[in-house]
Amino acid sequence: MNQTRRKRRPDPSLSRLDSLSPEMLFPAKSPSLTSSRIRYIFLLLTFCFIIYIIFSYGTTFRREQISSIARSLSVFSTRRRHLLFSIAASHDSWLRRSSYVRLWYSPESTRAVVFLDRGGLESDLTLPPVIVSKDVSRFPYNFPGGLRSAIRVARVVKETVDLGDKDVRWFVFGDDDTVFFVDNLVTVLSKYDHRKWYYVGSNSEFYDQNVRYSFDMAFGGGGFAISASLAKVLAKVLDSCLMRYSHMYGSDSRIFSCVAELGVTLTHEPGFHQIDVRGNIFGLLCAHPLSPLVSLHHLDAVDPFFPKRNRTESVAHLIGAASFDSARILQQSVCYDSLNTVTVSVVWGYAVQVYEGNKLLPDLLTLQKTFSTWRRGSGVQSNYMFSTREYPRDPCGRPLVFFLDSVGSDGTEGTWSNYNLHRVGNCHRAEAVERLERVRVLSRKLKHDVEQMVAPRRQCCDISSPYNKSMVINIRQCMPDELIAMNT
Ligand SMILES: *[C@@H]1O[C@H](CO)[C@@H](O)[C@H](O)[C@H]1NC(C)=O
Ligand SMILES: *[C@@H]1O[C@H](CO)[C@@H](O)[C@H](O)[C@H]1NC(C)=O
Repeated sequence: MNQTRRKRRPDPSLSRLDSLSPEMLFPAKSPSLTSSRIRYIFLLLTFCFIIYIIFSYGTTFRREQISSIARSLSVFSTRRRHLLFSIAASHDSWLRRSSYVRLWYSPESTRAVVFLDRGGLESDLTLPPVIVSKDVSRFPYNFPGGLRSAIRVARVVKETVDLGDKDVRWFVFGDDDTVFFVDNLVTVLSKYDHRKWYYVGSNSEFYDQNVRYSFDMAFGGGGFAISASLAKVLAKVLDSCLMRYSHMYGSDSRIFSCVAELGVTLTHEPGFHQIDVRGNIFGLLCAHPLSPLVSLHHLDAVDPFFPKRNRTESVAHLIGAASFDSARILQQSVCYDSLNTVTVSVVWGYAVQVYEGNKLLPDLLTLQKTFSTWRRGSGVQSNYMFSTREYPRDPCGRPLVFFLDSVGSDGTEGTWSNYNLHRVGNCHRAEAVERLERVRVLSRKLKHDVEQMVAPRRQCCDISSPYNKSMVINIRQCMPDELIAMNT
């Protein structure tokens, strides 16, 4: 009916089209242009229709494609914003140790909260927001001589999940004296599917600590990560575990036990460092596993790890280097000068050691025992979770050591870092190295895709010769069948 009527009365629609036609805006000089005007309108409408088709098809296509790619890659596309850090502190320790947190926390790009036993601190926008823990006095604590605060700190896991923050893939826990290398943690966690149940961390360096607690417990200070799916279930059941494990010492034992009751075991990641040692951790830092550095803990129990810098400045210096090439920080490369029989070990972003003679790679990968045991006392044995070698007491029996001075970028992927000689003792050195004062290391930004994370390979390096006061080292990928050894 309507169609018939429209056919009979074409004028109103025409006039409406007329009102939109360009001729109204640019009036036609002659009525003979009417037919070209209709053609113009027809072309315009066709054009609009085609654009509409292309656009709507295009967006559906793109949307579908993007969401399918996102689905398949979602495991690997973990970003900084997907991590929520939760720091367990107390009012008193926070005053002293927040300076460590400030070094790795960025208000713009890090999501973090701090749990304290009581409030009353001025808010500080350079630090994560502070939350006062809920009362836990109803939970029993029976470990002789232990600290009840273990319950409050364990319950931080539940209270963090209960905040209900959106789009969290990983809940990360640490102490206020834990320093995280956030980008590296993101890389490490990208290996795992956050939709499955994961408890990721590392145990103690000190063998006896693992005997006492568990080889499969993530030591809390080194930090650990719980996938969002596991964290949600854990938050629901944690209180019942807190009742059951009242006889245990620490907060991390309580979390470990509850996770174990859920049937989940620890996924070991060697980049987390509890640092259960004391004193000089040079040897520990110079033999980092072939895995990104994720955390350092117990900073107040160890010496500042750069000469002439205090603890906070030392950590800041290391984090500063990491900002140029996060994946490479503390990664060790070894290269040889066969002409002069010199061996060089580069620990990127920290130190270079120059050895006189031909040192075999496996020896340089073992840890120099520069530190002392975590537990003190006469009966304490220094058993560690890694191979160690003695660090000579006589400074002249040690390699020449160069500490990081400065790092820079060439503006693209290239990075340089300079290391200055740390003079100790008046030692007689081989002629080839006796005048050395500086080492400059050139490298390219290390990219860790998931494949390299699963099956990593150490990089090689070359010494530019001749050298006199200053040595230049270039780090690069090894050739397929290249061996890290001296050509003899
Ligand atoms: C470390 O040195 C900085 C100055 O560079 C100073 O502000 C800070 O208080 C020092 N920290 C300690 C613990 O001495
Ligand atoms: C190394 O430097 C010293 C001091 O600058 C200089 O006397 C010497 O000739 C140099 N040696 C070589 C081989 O260039």
